[in-house]
Amino acid sequence: MKLFKRFSFRGKIDKSSARKQQFIAQKISRRYCFSAVSLFALQSVVASLGALELVIPDLPSPIPFEYGRAIHLALAVLWPLIGTMGMVYFFTTAELNREIYSPRLARWQYWLVMFFSLGVFSTLALRIGNGREYLEGIPILYVGICISLILASYNLVRTLLTDKRNITPAAATMTVGVIFLMLLLLPNTITFSNPITDEATKFWVVHLWEEMAFELTSAGFIATYFIVSGLAPRTEVEKWLYLEAVLAVVGGLYGTGHHYYWIGFPAVWLVLGSLVSLVEVIPVGMLVRMTYKGLKSTKIRSNREKLTLWLLLSSVFHHIIGASLLGLFLTVPWINLYTHGTYITSGHAHLALFGSLGFAVLAGCYYILSQGSQPTLKGYKGGVLAVILLNSGLIIMSSALLVAGFMETYFWRILGMDFMQVRFILKPYLSIRALGGAIFTLGDLLLSWRIFKAWQATRSYRQPKI
Ligand code: HEM
Ligand code: HEM
Repeated sequence: MKLFKRFSFRGKIDKSSARKQQFIAQKISRRYCFSAVSLFALQSVVASLGALELVIPDLPSPIPFEYGRAIHLALAVLWPLIGTMGMVYFFTTAELNREIYSPRLARWQYWLVMFFSLGVFSTLALRIGNGREYLEGIPILYVGICISLILASYNLVRTLLTDKRNITPAAATMTVGVIFLMLLLLPNTITFSNPITDEATKFWVVHLWEEMAFELTSAGFIATYFIVSGLAPRTEVEKWLYLEAVLAVVGGLYGTGHHYYWIGFPAVWLVLGSLVSLVEVIPVGMLVRMTYKGLKSTKIRSNREKLTLWLLLSSVFHHIIGASLLGLFLTVPWINLYTHGTYITSGHAHLALFGSLGFAVLAGCYYILSQGSQPTLKGYKGGVLAVILLNSGLIIMSSALLVAGFMETYFWRILGMDFMQVRFILKPYLSIRALGGAIFTLGDLLLSWRIFKAWQATRSYRQPKI
């Protein structure tokens, strides 16, 4: 009883908002979001230990660095995927104002994706993997994740087709995003003996998942969030959504060319990849405009909506600076020739993957898991502090990586200094990165705690039984 009291919620219950939640799919989406946030908390802790090991190599560690890195990369791709699945179910029902085709399927899909994702992490911890960066787990495990995406695609398409006259652009955009997630993972469930095909299909997940499929699901989520919370009128939001979706697909598909520069593709991809990458930046500009409109709105009523917006705003900021502008810089073939695969790439990867995608998924997860409650003023301030710590940690970490990357490029690639000598020079910057990582981890744990409290407070308010 005492234990129960210790963990019991002290925030305010927002009964009107609790009443609004009536769809079974929304209850199921909470499982996805809760799991995503928990995996995110785990990722920072594992990553901080890895960053420390790079500076103090003799540190005792149960898992060798290469497997720790593989788990870190698997987490980087899979927790945003799991959170996105929950967000898509939640916001599709909110947008269409009706139940999804099969909540039962959504529940089965949850267990599938969790089983196979945990399978990837645990087999990697046991040092079983295939050495294919980002998709280092054994291929059969990705088959399971792919089946889960097939179920999601089927469920969402059937949901839309149930009432064809009421298909909205936001719901359609999110469904297309999930279908792309499935189609792009599909070729990665088998192995190719041709190294060029192998590398190219890998980038369909590393690049196309992030810059096309997740771009669509996030745009749909943001649009629905703005509409359902009354921050922007539906007509205003829908006007740009289709155009943004088309640009994300065209820009994403051909922009992948910037990953084909040095893996054996014809030289025409140097031109195609760099020019079309410019198109990839346009949807981001549209997203910024949309968020600006929401922020200018006087209708931001509650601390819950404000905290969601702080997270979204962080995502938009890193999307412009870390993903788009830094990405464009790296795309110029004459620059990429020198910077390819250095710590500059790692700086961009953190700013883009967590900065833009991670923050957007956390915004959705927080919004979903807190539905039915309002944070107390203390809780809200704690949430804002967490966002500040996450942003400061990320910026310190990535700036240190960028400086290290420029030095690495200059000393190693231009002056031709010995690799190990260069590693020694980079050590102070990697220590600053570890410090940034520690600040980031604090922010992560604080935010996860706030989300946990919100989840706990609203647990008994979900009405439907599955
Ligand atoms: C949310 C959007 C984005 C995400 C999540 C993202 C993520 C990533 C990641 C994880 C990598 C590392 C891949 C590896 O280790 O092999 C990478 C590399 C790269 N990204 Fe992005 N990116 C985004 C947007 C962009 C944009 C808009 C551009 C260009 C306009 C871009 C250009 C590049 C380039 C050129 C590389 C390769 C760097 C190298 O050769 O080492 N990225 N990106
Ligand atoms: C406490 C925070 C974090 C720390 C200390 C950290 C540390 C690391 C380390 C040590 C590596 C190995 C290669 C390198 O030295 O750069 C790495 C790579 C990577 N991390 Fe993180 N990480 C953190 C958070 C995240 C998050 C939240 C994400 C995304 C959701 C992420 C995505 C990546 C990616 C994509 C790479 C591969 C970069 C590349 O080499 O192309 N990291 N990180």
